[in-house]
Amino acid sequence: MAKIIVEGGHRLEGSVRVSGAKNAVLPILAASLLAAHGTSRIEDVPHLLDVENMMATVAALGARVERDGQAVSVCAENIHSVEPPHELVRRMRASFVVAGPLLARFGEAVIALPGGCNIGPRPVDLHIKGFEAMGATATIEGGRVHFRAPKEGLRGARIYLDIPSVGATQNIMMAACLARGQTIIENAAKEPENVDLANYLNAMGARVRGAGTDTIRIDGVDELHGAVHAVIPDRIEAGTFLIAGALAGTGVYVENAVSQHLMSLIAKLEEAGARMEDDVNGIRVWPSDGGRLKAVDVKTHYYPAYPTDLQAQIVAALATAQGTSLVTETVFENRFMHVAELQRMGADIHIEGRTAIIEGIDRLEGARVTATDLRAGAALVIAGLMAEGETEIHGLHHIDRGYDDLVGKFRALGARIRRVDGENEN
Ligand code: EPZ
Repeated sequence: MAKIIVEGGHRLEGSVRVSGAKNAVLPILAASLLAAHGTSRIEDVPHLLDVENMMATVAALGARVERDGQAVSVCAENIHSVEPPHELVRRMRASFVVAGPLLARFGEAVIALPGGCNIGPRPVDLHIKGFEAMGATATIEGGRVHFRAPKEGLRGARIYLDIPSVGATQNIMMAACLARGQTIIENAAKEPENVDLANYLNAMGARVRGAGTDTIRIDGVDELHGAVHAVIPDRIEAGTFLIAGALAGTGVYVENAVSQHLMSLIAKLEEAGARMEDDVNGIRVWPSDGGRLKAVDVKTHYYPAYPTDLQAQIVAALATAQGTSLVTETVFENRFMHVAELQRMGADIHIEGRTAIIEGIDRLEGARVTATDLRAGAALVIAGLMAEGETEIHGLHHIDRGYDDLVGKFRALGARIRRVDGENEN
């Protein structure tokens, strides 16, 4: 079984470059299905299991998909199916966003309902409601949903999202690109990844306005074509390194980090005593003068509030802060499974409802721990950096889903960290 071994107590220094954003690449690869002609070239695509999964899903539908170093090219001129392989869709919830492009371009899509995952039930009712508002029917049978557009195609609609769902906003936005008339999405998700998707769609010939605000207007067009697009940097990966640098760094520079995508995290780390400076190429972070973070309260919510995808990492960081911190998770029902693993390392944390109450202690102890979701895995690496002795982290498939060479990047910062796959070590 592969594992990561971290030896705690070493300072981090130097610079690290973050990769392209996983959560922008996934919907963008799905959106490439909308192009009736031409080839798209997506640049700065990280090497991740989730990306390979989406590439396989799009290829299984008939697209020609080729990886060329950090770029991926997709030609969707010869799509021959509207039903992606169920095992691929069930493996990754994000695959559900191929529904919108298929339904818009071919009038039909048959998609397995995504399995619940370990951070809580993950319904798709808002996606379905949005497509129905545009005239589609949705029939659920045998664990999959069969979408059918009217014979004249989807029509524009005014859609209010009860929750600013990232995936539902993406799916509806993509479907609306080829609908007749205008679609307005209200209470839309404002994440930078959705803005990046909208920029790619517009490069393909779509007419999307207002992405990044809570009202997005899409005027349908007849056809879209391939386009070249460079993906935005991954703000969650950048945030992971900023937190690690605030804890154990001596002035770590996170290259390619976009500060306006991370305002909530930057504010929190500064409140905890860390210091940051940003320039056009990235952000430098220093730990607080006393060497230990001060306790702070954090509440996750939809963008631009503090991101749920950086919740596990800040919980790990606050385990050795001075004082008591409260971290409240409002987006997902069950996203504190990393707390049990941190407790094995001596962390003094208990959960009350949706809040983790963290009593800061001086040092964590190295232990054998297991990642429970991809962000929890990164949190355990951060905890291991701060712990006395060695920490052994299992469950690496979670980490490999969302981080491109996490071990190599931390090692380049001076961390004593290595990955052991079976007998060989790297
Ligand atoms: C995206 O997931 C991200 N994934 C998640 O990142 C991220 O945690 C999440 O947004 C919230 O920011 C990708 O972009 C691939 P949602 P998504 O729809 O789109 C409820 C990571 O670590 N909901 O915004 O699935 C849902 O249950 C991953 O990279 C409905 O009720 O999230 C959840 O409680 C983990 N009905 C809330 O909305 C729906 O139809 C937010 O979900 C859809 C969602």
